Amino acid sequence: MAPLDHEPDRVVYLDNAATTPLRTEALEAMLPFLTDRFGNPSGGHRVARAARQALDEARDDVAEVLGCGPGEVVFTAGGTEADNLAVLGVIAARGGTAVCPAAEHHAVLHAVQAVGGRVVGTGPDGAVDLEQLAAALDDLGGSVAVVSAMTANNEVGTFTPLSEVAALVADRAPGATLHTDAVQAAGWCDLRKLAAPAALVSVAAHKLGGPKGVGCLVVRSGTPLRPLLHGGGQERERRSGTQDVAGVVGFATALRLAAQERVEAGARARSLRARLLGRLVEAVGGVVPSAPLERALPGHLHVRIEGCEGEAMLVLLDDAGVCASAGSACASGAVEPSHVLLAMGVPKAEALTSLRLSIGRTTTEADVDAAAAAVAAAAARLRAG
Ligand SMILES: Cc1ncc(COP(=O)(O)O)c(C=O)c1O
Repeated sequence: MAPLDHEPDRVVYLDNAATTPLRTEALEAMLPFLTDRFGNPSGGHRVARAARQALDEARDDVAEVLGCGPGEVVFTAGGTEADNLAVLGVIAARGGTAVCPAAEHHAVLHAVQAVGGRVVGTGPDGAVDLEQLAAALDDLGGSVAVVSAMTANNEVGTFTPLSEVAALVADRAPGATLHTDAVQAAGWCDLRKLAAPAALVSVAAHKLGGPKGVGCLVVRSGTPLRPLLHGGGQERERRSGTQDVAGVVGFATALRLAAQERVEAGARARSLRARLLGRLVEAVGGVVPSAPLERALPGHLHVRIEGCEGEAMLVLLDDAGVCASAGSACASGAVEPSHVLLAMGVPKAEALTSLRLSIGRTTTEADVDAAAAAVAAAAARLRAG
């Protein structure tokens, strides 16, 4: 896209599902490990031991928030790696078939497809179609090795009924490993409960106020998993490579804060979202929420706006200083609708009218009001042709 030729008066950031601003506390916790405490945590001397201690403390914190043992936390370079490790690592360890719903993030979907796995249908709400999942598990019989179902969808925000998925897997594919991509949910939900049925859980720091390029895969003990990266045998032989100590410290700090603020942040985001939707319905009209909001992440508002092509809307919003997302992607020069919306059965033309506004901890009422006004102005322009 061409660079902006002017600076808007203010920037309204409503793309928190893409990434979130780094928390000051996380930055401050990280700084010593980018400066004086630079040691390699695998070493034996005092500088190395200082880094090791920080890594161990961060691991304890992450484990406590996620409801697992410290030895079950495998630090990775973010959510994509955690997802790939989960799917490919189980298949490498025991063979068999990987299964996932069609609305998974590409980090899961493409990994499942890369090992010739089975993709099952998604319901119109964006959550896995349990009947189709059951039929696929029956069809594949004992060959199912891993089932991956996201805790909540990154585009429309819908929660997966994870305990129902777990019950189906236990009943129809006993022995298969359940993985959940909790990258979007981790900043909002208590994963100690929500992700408890899953043996493998992916989390990324940058979605909850931590740095980019760091995250983890929870690997509950006894889960078959072969590493993707070979080398020094770090992370108990499950992920070789010198750990990003500063990143991990920032991740743990952000995750701890997100857990402390969870209830209040969720209520606040829900109220801002209701205000935003109310204003959009009133000022724009022809606005259809894509997911049932009572079963979606609190910060997600994904809508289709009649007569407004999503990519064109984004350009006008950006011009007005509003940062949002359409969930579609430019492939081979043409704008392609999101695979999530298509999986939900939304017709292609309608899927191209998508707009995702995602609220975060720094969003204010003034942001929401300014965004609604900008969407209204952009919609009027687009509809005028
Ligand atoms: C649900 C989900 N899974 C995985 C990822 C990838 O995470 P990362 O950006 O840390 O690689 C994302 C990021 O958008 C996501 O939303």
